[in-house]
Amino acid sequence: MVAFTPLRPVTKDSRLFCVIRAYLTVVATTLLSSSFLLQAVSRLFYSVFHTYRRSLLTWNFHYFLIAVQWTVGFLTPITILINYDHVIHRTDRIMASPFGNGFHIEITHNDNDESEFDIKELYTREKTLQLRNIYIPNCIELFYRHSPLTIVRCQGTYMYDQLENRYLDCINNVAHVGHCHSYVNKQIYRQMGACATNTRYLHDNTVILAEKLSRTLPESLQQIFYTNSASEANDLAIRLARGFTGNYDILALDNAYHGHISTLVELSTYKFKKMKKPTKIPEHVHIVSIMIEFINS
Ligand SMILES: Cc1ncc(COP(=O)(O)O)c(C=O)c1O
Repeated sequence: MVAFTPLRPVTKDSRLFCVIRAYLTVVATTLLSSSFLLQAVSRLFYSVFHTYRRSLLTWNFHYFLIAVQWTVGFLTPITILINYDHVIHRTDRIMASPFGNGFHIEITHNDNDESEFDIKELYTREKTLQLRNIYIPNCIELFYRHSPLTIVRCQGTYMYDQLENRYLDCINNVAHVGHCHSYVNKQIYRQMGACATNTRYLHDNTVILAEKLSRTLPESLQQIFYTNSASEANDLAIRLARGFTGNYDILALDNAYHGHISTLVELSTYKFKKMKKPTKIPEHVHIVSIMIEFINS
């Protein structure tokens, strides 16, 4: 269940303000809905039960019922004030407070750079880190391990953390036309909704894209081999080069990274320099050193 507060957040809204507003909105929603219940109970007393007990019709009894209703209304959502951690606050955009397991209160308004999709966080940053440490192997790199970033949404050239701090993404190796491009999102969504299967069947889009790509390449490079990742593409490039030249050996730059599959880890000194057991560079791989001092300076 989701409740939207009627007020739009303003830029200066603080986290505390967000928490209080989330609390008051749940209080208001609870009081409003329980007042209908109270009216129904009251009518029941008037029409049925007063014949058994006249005191049910007195003002004092109704004041008592209202007091109970207000106490329940203010006490039920008190966890929002206690569990600060559950409140997600993004200045000027979203405030969300998961209440219990299924109730969210949100204050939102749409900017152009707002994500189209649900970006609610399920866990606190600490819990995410704790679960990552349990379930994700330590050899999978985590940037800024001493204080890792939680990135909750990305748009264009920027990434945003859970506090809505904005980071210019200078690494981006996933989204090629900027993050979360609405046209790309929609086309992926449409295709996934229609069918997602392999290239062993005929499909118009397979050839439409191949034709478009080949128009950007020299005439001799006309055919397109689709892959899912850079690792697969690099592995394929090695196979093609070996097939074309008939040679087997490979030159690789020192400190380079080419992908996570075996053929590429062999070429990625960046990877095997980090391995606990010393790893022998295979005979067919020849490492060319680069002027790392120059790059580091
Ligand atoms: C230069 C380079 N080559 C290859 C890869 C492997 O890419 P993928 O994870 O898509 O297999 C990466 C990924 O970071 C990369 O930076």
